[in-house]
Amino acid sequence: MVQATSLVLAAAAIGTVAAIPGGNSTTPLAKRAVTPNSTGTNNGYYYSWWSDGSGTATYTMGSGGQFAVTWQNSGNFVGGKGWATGTTNRVVSYSGSFNSPGNGYLTLYGWTRNALIEYYIVDSYGTYNPCQGGQKKGTVNTDGGTYDICLSTRTNQPSIDGTSTFQQYWSVRQSKRVGGTITVANHVNAWAAQGMRLGSSHSYQVLACEGYQSSGSCSINVGGSTSGGGQTTQPPQQTTTTRPTTTNGGGNTGNCSAKYGQCGGQGWAGATCCQSGSTCRASNQWYSQCL
Ligand SMILES: *[C@@H]1O[C@H](CO)[C@@H](O)[C@H](O)[C@H]1NC(C)=O
Ligand SMILES: *[C@@H]1O[C@H](CO)[C@@H](O)[C@H](O)[C@H]1NC(C)=O
Ligand SMILES: *[C@@H]1O[C@H](CO)[C@@H](O)[C@H](O)[C@H]1NC(C)=O
Repeated sequence: MVQATSLVLAAAAIGTVAAIPGGNSTTPLAKRAVTPNSTGTNNGYYYSWWSDGSGTATYTMGSGGQFAVTWQNSGNFVGGKGWATGTTNRVVSYSGSFNSPGNGYLTLYGWTRNALIEYYIVDSYGTYNPCQGGQKKGTVNTDGGTYDICLSTRTNQPSIDGTSTFQQYWSVRQSKRVGGTITVANHVNAWAAQGMRLGSSHSYQVLACEGYQSSGSCSINVGGSTSGGGQTTQPPQQTTTTRPTTTNGGGNTGNCSAKYGQCGGQGWAGATCCQSGSTCRASNQWYSQCL
């Protein structure tokens, strides 16, 4: 959804505050109905926040991988924390809450270029299952659940490269959950098996809350990755192909941390995956544990 020009537009939007009833150009930003579009780094994580500017949606960020969104009669928004650049071999762990009685998604969300693809791994959603409007392509079993795979095409819609026509790849968890581990490679491999290949160049990848003409709230703490999570400098190991990194459907389980062992946290240089039977959960910015 986010356009490359978002920051410019957000800066320009400050001058339009007078259009909001009761506001004027000296109204503090915190009083705006919608948090301005923004991307950047916060407490070691990349973040991206975009909205179409309508309704009410407030995006806030806390320590480490924490962020929260509250929305009322919103327009369309999507925001969260993660990494720039994305990678296919990341194992994302997260916890928190997601309350969306209307239309909303809790999703790992990212983009590739060459080809331009917007992808979603949806763990929970409100009233609308995004696969309803897509072409069903099969399922993938991973991380303790089954996800429906589907494909949709967006025609002349906002993208990271401006208004474009591009495909959306979806994995939508049949049994909704809030919190757990998302093994990105398992989705990417399952998509590729259906002819859905990501582009060769990754843009950002965030654990995000999205809403559309609805009200709700989410508060999420994201962590865990191929690089230990939350580090501002990524090792130069980002994969740029959709080749499977393993054949066992998971991480490099031979070298993964044992149950109750550490599997991540800022400064952690050890294994960031867990041996089968346990999953990596972020306790806080500094410590993730195989549970
Ligand atoms: C602008 O809004 C602020 C805060 O609501 C208020 O204190 C100030 O008087 C307003 N200025 C004008 C010119 O309306
Ligand atoms: C964010 O950017 C979009 C264009 O991508 C723009 O339409 C929208 O108004 C911006 N949102 C805000 C809150 O300024
Ligand atoms: C596994 O761990 C050993 C010893 O810590 C290390 O030398 C090796 O590179 C690791 N292998 C992988 C695939 O991470």
